[in-house]
Formats: sequence, structure tokens, C-alpha cells
Amino acid sequence: MLENLTQQPPDALLALIKLYDADTRADKIDLGVGVYRTDDGATPVFAAIKAAERKLVEEQDSKAYLGPEGDMGFVHALMPYIFGSDPTMGGRIEGMQTPGGTGAVRLALALAKRSGVGTVWMGTPSWPNHAQILKDLDMPLQGFNHAGADGTADMDALRAALKQAAKGDAVLLHGCCHNPTGIDYTDAQWDEIAALLAETGVLPILDLAYQGLGMGMEADAYGVRKVLASVPEALIAYSCDKNFGLYRDRVGAVYAMAADAGQVDAILSNGHTLARAAWSMPPDHGAAAVRLILRDPAFTQMWLDELDDMRARMRQVRDRLGAAGKVGTLDLTPCGTQNGLFSMLALTPEQILKLREDHGVYMAGSGRINIAGLTMGNIEKFIAALAAVTA
Ligand code: LMR
Repeated sequence: MLENLTQQPPDALLALIKLYDADTRADKIDLGVGVYRTDDGATPVFAAIKAAERKLVEEQDSKAYLGPEGDMGFVHALMPYIFGSDPTMGGRIEGMQTPGGTGAVRLALALAKRSGVGTVWMGTPSWPNHAQILKDLDMPLQGFNHAGADGTADMDALRAALKQAAKGDAVLLHGCCHNPTGIDYTDAQWDEIAALLAETGVLPILDLAYQGLGMGMEADAYGVRKVLASVPEALIAYSCDKNFGLYRDRVGAVYAMAADAGQVDAILSNGHTLARAAWSMPPDHGAAAVRLILRDPAFTQMWLDELDDMRARMRQVRDRLGAAGKVGTLDLTPCGTQNGLFSMLALTPEQILKLREDHGVYMAGSGRINIAGLTMGNIEKFIAALAAVTA
């Protein structure tokens, strides 16, 4: 039977890591996979995580199974950061731990499917794994344009999509730091989106994978909170892989907001069943470290300060890109006001290849760049390379 399986292409983004590693040029620039880097190009473990890990080693007295829901102390400790001062909305929100943000998106979509959701609407381009997960779950996807020509969100396309969506459809939205474009909705746009969702009854599925990397922990939650305050029910996929720097530890959570507190247990029981059949239970270590951080005010402050530093550095890079303005055929101005780890440049596949081969600049085939791959040491070389390939 196994001969029926045909060769699949490697994941393009993950393959780029290998290509970059094999390049021997000292001044190569990695703008590929979305990991934060310091101005020295490193992705260090947060000091707050190190401190929490030390405490965990001292305190943890068992590694016995926790169950498909994972570490509920972790799940609950995050909630005020995501949902605000009434984090359960009167008992209507509950969650469970997942293996990373991908596990959270997977589980949110599987729950949507189980509850009878038909088509999932999604702004494109989007994180390529979104479409891949939908395909694997055999859920129909309807795309609409996300990025307007001026580097801000195409609200007309979103309005039209939500008007066209049928009852029982869902819409998958990035809570902040849109991947791959960096184009977030403004607060006023979220107000309108929330009202449209309330009017149309389309189920919101909100992917919040970069909270704190855009404008700040509170500001980045504006859209999620606004939508949840306006609609009866929603699903939220959350990742701590970026904002706690826990990438390979795979730390995420999925939350459901039910129309009625009495429905929450039944919804979560479906999440538990789906998780049990897929991965049984999530890995513990990273989530336990996050729980220790969030339960200790000194650790929490240490983590928030580190997050502030990351955001400030990315703003510095964005300021420089924005100030570069027109570079060849490109306009870098919108990069200056976009959010999070990514922006997307209007480059052709040939130009992207030329950047890699002639200049040692590695970026996703979509033209997405990881802003944190740029430093004060390499940004001028990058801008010059862009000028050379787009001249
Ligand atoms: C990215 O988009 O670079 C990250 O979310 C990593 C991943 O899993 O694709």
C-alpha cells in the first residue's frame, strides 16, 4: 500500500532554514522563518523563562500525565492578558492547552467542523499553514483579499466576504501582527468588523499568535476583546511560542466562548476528545514555565520588560525601512507602520532568487520578510540589495 504515497514537496519555509544554514557567506541575512532575533542575530531564551525553568526543576515533583487539557493553571493564567478584566465573560470562556499555535488552530478548526461549520473565510495571503490545516480537515476555504494596494487592510473585500458568507460559515482572522503582511486592522476597523460579525452571525475564529509583538500586550488584544464583546460565540487560537520565545517547546492554547455558560463543558469535552485522538496530551514543560512566570509578579515584570525590548527593536528596524521610502520599484514606507514580525514586499520570484543567490538574503517565496532578521548591522546592506534587484 505504501507505494501509493507520492513524494511531497518539503515545507518551503522550513526548507529555507536548511538552505540558509548551508550558505557559507559571512554576511548572509536570514529573513525567513518567524523567530525573533536580537541586534546580534541571536534568538536567546528569555531570562524570565530561564528563571522559571530553574524554579520548575526545583519544584516539580512528578511528570505523571495531566490529561488532554494540559496544564489548566497555564490556560487560566493567560486569560486576563487575552480577555481582560472579566476573563471568563461570566463563565462563558474556557480553554485547554495545545501543542503550539498550530495545535491551537488545528483544534479550533476541528471544533468548528464538528459543530457544523461549512465554509471558512480567510483573508489572503495568510500563514500558509492555515490553508494546509483546512485542506487536511477537508473544510472548504473561501479567500478574500487582505492587503490593500496602499499597505493597509482591504476593508471592502472583508465587508463583501462577510455579506456573502452563509449562515454556518466561519471567518478566520489574525488577532494582531498579521502573518505574512504585517497589516493589522485599526481599532476603528475592528469596531466595524465586530459589528458586522454580530449582524451576519458568521463564527469568528481568531488566531492570536503574536500578542505583545505589535503595539503591546493590551493594545494587541483590542480586536479579540472587541469581537468577543459583540458576538455570542467564538473560538480563539493562542500561541506563546513567540511572545515567550518558546518556539520548539510548542506552547499554545485554544479557548471557546459559548453563547451560554451552560454549553462550555460540552464544547471543551469535544476539544478533549479531538486532542486525545490526535496527540493525547500536549507537552508540559514550556506551559509550566509560562504558568510560573505569570504567577510570580517579579518574573512577570521580567518577561514584560523583555517583550518591550523586542518590540522596541522591531520598531527601530521598521522606522529605518519606512524612512527608506522608495527603493527601486518598491515602496518601503508602509513597513514603517505595519506590525509584528512580518511585512511583505512586492518582489517577483526572480528577484527573490536573485536576492538569495547574489546577495545572501533569504526570505519566503511570497516576499515575506522577518523584520527581526534585520539589524542595525545589516539593514543598509539589505536596502542596497533591494535597490539592486529592483532597479
Ligand atoms: C512563521 O510563519 O514563520 C512561523 O509561524 C513558523 C511556522 O511554523 O511557520
